[in-house]
Amino acid sequence: MKILVLPGDGIGPEITAEAVRVLEVLCADGVKMEFEEGLLGGCAVDGTGKPYPEATSRLARDADAILLGAVGGPQWDTLPREQRPERGLLGIRAELGVFANLRPAILYPELANASSLKPEVVSGLDILIVRELTGDIYFGQPRGIEERETQWGRQKVGWNTMIYAEEEIRRIGKVAFEAARKRGKRLCSVDKMNVLECTQLWRDTITAMAPQYPDVELSHMLVDNAAMQLVRAPKQFDVVVTGNMFGDILSDEASMLTGSIGMLPSASLDANNKGLYEPSHGSAPDIAGQGVANPLATILSAAMLLRYSGNNEAAALRVENAVKRVLAQGYRTGDIYEPGTNRVGTREMGDAVIAALKA
Ligand code: IPM
Ligand code: MG
Repeated sequence: MKILVLPGDGIGPEITAEAVRVLEVLCADGVKMEFEEGLLGGCAVDGTGKPYPEATSRLARDADAILLGAVGGPQWDTLPREQRPERGLLGIRAELGVFANLRPAILYPELANASSLKPEVVSGLDILIVRELTGDIYFGQPRGIEERETQWGRQKVGWNTMIYAEEEIRRIGKVAFEAARKRGKRLCSVDKMNVLECTQLWRDTITAMAPQYPDVELSHMLVDNAAMQLVRAPKQFDVVVTGNMFGDILSDEASMLTGSIGMLPSASLDANNKGLYEPSHGSAPDIAGQGVANPLATILSAAMLLRYSGNNEAAALRVENAVKRVLAQGYRTGDIYEPGTNRVGTREMGDAVIAALKA
């Protein structure tokens, strides 16, 4: 398997280094992987003037899977929009057509106290958010900022277009129904059909698919209610499917139920399981370069890479079990630390996972 590593910005290089070290242990044990490295995000802007340079695009198209750290930082926030690091991330997602973003939110029992919710509300939590990733208001045209005549006089207006085609909804619906089938067999589709036509079509299209999946119990929820239910009674959810923007917001919310966004991996897949794997969190510029970031979300993303693009469930489970083991052993980075546990940095956490893998 050819793996392209895109460390990106902020804590990205530190956390991807640990995930690559973990994958290298599996290589030593016979899983075949080759690594290449490329530039994406702010580092690419600094190096080439573009957040998603042609050289990276070539490597990405050629790779079987991509492991990404995180992009962005305050030093690039004032650049023109098309040069911002986030544009690089959206560019690679769109070019590779990785429309299905899987974001599992699992509460590890050892971290029940790290959640801001009561342990009984979150213990045993195991949700999968299936977020559509290459459509919606993120990519819809037209969009822009321009001066117009308005009821308040001539002034700037900003606008975007929320748009989904039926086929775009059906293909993400299929991923979600099939995922539910392999898990708790419950699927909740989230929309805002009481206000937005685009999401009325979403609801109608998902509803029309339900007869093909008689073993999956389908429900629908408005996004505001879903946001509330996620903190009120999160265990009612099994698989949640939603559009790009609602999925962005709800997956951050779901991550905090588990104690730290530093624990949440993600996989973004195309129709052939070629994938882009990245932690659900951002580049955390405030702690970059200090060696304190939690590498577990990236290590767990590497496990997802083994599962979906590598088709190697055994190797994926080995990595996930190693992570469970280091948590049970009491290793904690700052984001999940509590008194009585062993506070470690990024590299030491990587070392602990590797030791657990070899044990
Ligand atoms: C995410 C991030 C990105 C998104 C940003 C960095 C463009 O928040 O992966 O959730 O909004 O998709
Ligand atoms: Mg987000």
